[in-house]
Amino acid sequence: MRYMLILISLLIPFAVAAEFNTVDELEKAYDDRTCRVCHEKVYDEWKKSLHSQSVIHTLGGIRNFMVFGLGKWDKPVNKENLMRCLHCHAPSMENASEALFKEVGELVISAFDGKEEAREKLSLLNVNCIVCHNTHAIIEKNLRGEPKKNVYYGPTGKATPAHGTEKSPAITASIFCSQCHWLFTPKDGDSLYCNTLYGSYQDAYRGTGGTATCQDCHMKSKGRGHTFPGAYNLDMVREGIGLEIQAAGVKLQPGKGIPTAIVTIGLTNNAGHRIPDG
Ligand code: HEC
Ligand code: HEC
Ligand code: HEC
Ligand code: HEC
Ligand code: HEC
Repeated sequence: MRYMLILISLLIPFAVAAEFNTVDELEKAYDDRTCRVCHEKVYDEWKKSLHSQSVIHTLGGIRNFMVFGLGKWDKPVNKENLMRCLHCHAPSMENASEALFKEVGELVISAFDGKEEAREKLSLLNVNCIVCHNTHAIIEKNLRGEPKKNVYYGPTGKATPAHGTEKSPAITASIFCSQCHWLFTPKDGDSLYCNTLYGSYQDAYRGTGGTATCQDCHMKSKGRGHTFPGAYNLDMVREGIGLEIQAAGVKLQPGKGIPTAIVTIGLTNNAGHRIPDG
């Protein structure tokens, strides 16, 4: 068993700071299919989540940004401009070469036009295990430094011969999610308001006495785990909206008896932030 673990651990790839020239190279470095060997339940949950589809699910938006945004402003489809979206929608592209950005730009157009092969390639770009448990797992980099190679940061840091583990206090806190569920300010000072949910969480929810973290509602509650349900999940949407309806029959004009009803509808937002978002 021990040798098997060591053998498998040798097969676990690791994203390095090298530059990637093709989607396949990038996929190899960030390959998380090996995680499934031991974390099957988590992997299958993640596969159902929007985090595993964070480019193909947003294809229309990214394509329109390229064609109608960059096209109209006469800006090139390059690393600087595509990272305005991929910084959150495909963080692994941070290590991609300009040639790969050009390829991804072309794949987005082909996939949008219905080319299945392009769609399949793009589906490899997402928010995967390695993004959350390594590259984005340390918030306090000033104190702890950069994430270490082949170490996966989690809520307990329980040791295993399979790979390095370390405890990350940040990963169980809402600020961890804020890395992508808040504003993005690229180097040129632009602001991207793709979603501002974390701001609303802080101001309207925590600021008025709410105590739950993002993880409490989206992962721990009802064993939701890594499926991260949101606006596309009926159970979640029901949980977010309190609906109270009162209806009363009245006669508006005394004596005449025109049947009239007054319906009072009360809506309460039970989510930990504004809805809808994104
Ligand atoms: C700060 C991180 C971040 C950046 C930068 C970002 N996004 Fe997003 N985007 C998100 C998150 C998180 C969601 C899901 C938010 C939600 O549902 O509340 C989202 C949702 C979307 C959606 C809606 C998906 C749906 O549910 O149908 C589209 C479209 C989209 N983004 C396009 C873009 C484009 C185009 C860009 C670049 C111009 C971009 N995003 C930049 C984080 C980001
Ligand atoms: C969007 C970020 C995100 C992604 C993607 C993600 N995780 Fe997690 N994971 C978390 C967070 C946050 C926790 C801690 C939840 C808590 O306890 O508060 C966690 C907990 C865990 C744990 C320990 C507890 C448990 O649920 O078993 C394991 C193991 C784990 N993740 C493995 C994986 C694997 C394997 C993948 C890829 C298939 C993955 N994670 C993808 C954010 C993520
Ligand atoms: C050979 C089996 C094996 C493989 C492959 C494997 N893991 Fe693990 N992993 C474990 C074991 C065992 C633990 C100890 C905790 C436990 O018992 O769940 C663990 C712990 C973790 C934790 C820490 C959980 C915590 O509570 O802090 C994370 C995060 C994690 N693994 C992520 C990954 C990722 C990401 C991959 C793929 C790149 C991966 N693992 C591949 C066996 C494996
Ligand atoms: C590395 C960036 C990143 C991190 C970190 C991250 N997310 Fe996301 N998340 C996204 C993107 C991008 C999407 C949108 C995917 C799409 O629709 O294309 C998303 C989608 C979601 C959705 C589904 C939204 C919907 O419209 O249904 C939920 C819920 C969610 N994230 C919760 C969380 C929580 C909770 C955390 C922290 C534990 C977290 N995310 C951490 C990038 C991230
Ligand atoms: C008190 C529980 C609770 C907390 C805390 C909470 N959420 Fe939510 N969240 C919900 C519910 C319920 C919904 C579904 C409501 C809807 O979208 O209609 C939701 C929806 C979402 C969506 C989809 C929004 C949309 O309309 O596209 C995202 C993304 C999300 N949450 C992320 C987060 C993040 C990130 C945090 C922490 C900063 C967080 N949530 C904290 C309960 C919560």
